[in-house]
Amino acid sequence: MSGQPTVCWEASADLVVVGSGVAGLTAALEALELGLRVLLVTKDVADAGSTRWAQGGIAVVLEDGHEPGDTVDRHVADTLAATGGLAEPDAVARILADGPSAVSDLRHRGAVFDAAGDGLALAREGGHSAFRVVHAGGDATGAEVERALLAAAGGVGVPMLTGHVAIDVVRAGGDRGPVVGLRVLDGAGRLGQLRAPSVLVATGGYGQLFDSTTNPDTATGDGVALAMRAGALGADLEFVQFHPTVLYTGAGARGRRPLVTEAVRGHGAVLVDSTGRRFMQGVHPLADLAPRDVVAAAITRRLAATATSCVYLDATAQTDFPTRFPTVFASCRAIGVDPLRDPIPVSPAAHYSCGGVLTDTEGRTGVPGLYAAGEVARTGLHGANRLASNSLLEGLVVGRRAAHAIATDRLGPRALGCALPGTVFDQVPMADRDLVQRAMSRGASIGRDGVGLAAASDAIEAGTSAGAVTSRAQVEDAALTLLAQAVLAAAGTRTETRGCHVRTDFPLTDDTHQRASLLVGLNEGQLTVRTADSARVGAA
Ligand code: SIN
Repeated sequence: MSGQPTVCWEASADLVVVGSGVAGLTAALEALELGLRVLLVTKDVADAGSTRWAQGGIAVVLEDGHEPGDTVDRHVADTLAATGGLAEPDAVARILADGPSAVSDLRHRGAVFDAAGDGLALAREGGHSAFRVVHAGGDATGAEVERALLAAAGGVGVPMLTGHVAIDVVRAGGDRGPVVGLRVLDGAGRLGQLRAPSVLVATGGYGQLFDSTTNPDTATGDGVALAMRAGALGADLEFVQFHPTVLYTGAGARGRRPLVTEAVRGHGAVLVDSTGRRFMQGVHPLADLAPRDVVAAAITRRLAATATSCVYLDATAQTDFPTRFPTVFASCRAIGVDPLRDPIPVSPAAHYSCGGVLTDTEGRTGVPGLYAAGEVARTGLHGANRLASNSLLEGLVVGRRAAHAIATDRLGPRALGCALPGTVFDQVPMADRDLVQRAMSRGASIGRDGVGLAAASDAIEAGTSAGAVTSRAQVEDAALTLLAQAVLAAAGTRTETRGCHVRTDFPLTDDTHQRASLLVGLNEGQLTVRTADSARVGAA
């Protein structure tokens, strides 16, 4: 950081957690219980991330409450069927098997789910062959998860620095050795140095790469950028999932748009076009409840065929809509739509980053001491298209597993006491967020092609200049710029259509040559893309 202030303050811990969503809070709580000194840093107020916006719920086959005949094996099979041939069967089985106990821990920490009779109410969403999604407040599951975890963290006194943005992970030995800490900027722009042998990034995804998204404006890919700059690999970055049913709030609407949860379709609503015609029948055996990539692509084709900007979700038969989906109901009413009488206007928008920092199912990256969990990470659970409501589950499971891995790895005493080496965060390329969003939305949405991807890359490169990072806005712009180029590089390399990566110039799936993850690295400022035979950490 040329021209940066010198370090103004310091702190130390056994583990620094970056991010205060479901994965970060779960990891921090678990690590504290395991006896680690934990410090959590988050760039905004604690509940400003994506977790609180999650609606549908948590997909899980609970021992004490599931649809008759449903099993974890069926959940595994549904996940593998939805993920475009790129999910890792071992990772899927391991993570989903831990789901029931992770949800049970969450309930012990205070989360309350909607009940039906003696048990929990179960919903169904796209790609699921059973009712297995537990929810809270009807369609406010993420808000309840975030509330409960923050209350639990407050209750046991997890030290938390809000308004602190991470700028670089520090490694010993000329940036080749293990992690020795993390540098952050505080709210006053002062540089702080957190000495710790373990850093867990849990910063969420990069939906803000696009000008229309369900994600809050904090979702700028900071953790992926942080980890890649520290030497970790990104994987499956090209698989940006577009949620099919996001409330259409008018032409040119930018920023976060309200979600209309898939559970609305699970509850019986159907998609129709501007003429009132259903169009999902015949597209997939599950019709309106097909996996998300299938529905989003079908809507995109329908919009093109009818030269319209939105399709409609007809839920007018659902007389319980206001109580079953209070969040969606309020969003609709705010734009003058009454779901009891009017079909709801919807169109796809960027929703979830299926890829991220390459980790194992314990959150370990390839860099000793650096861990990742939640949407920021690529564990192998989501492949080319995440199954609905597997994301909160992954945050709970892998957050917990990562805490145990960190306690087991016990990287503690080695790093403490030594001076943190000089910064590597110098002259960072960054472009303006608006420019990046417009370029990515034009060239890298659903229905990409080689020409559009190259044009997006050129536009971003032309708008990029290098500079020191002295504010949160610059951290975010730099992260978005790196992520945009990484996504474009991977999307340009993948000359096929698979999952949520839809290429109009390569409309077929090429299982013979391309059924493998792409790994993206950053070496001396240059992005590299290569195919992994196996994308497991260690094999990379
Ligand atoms: C939804 O409620 O439709 C979104 C849930 C998810 O993204 O898994």
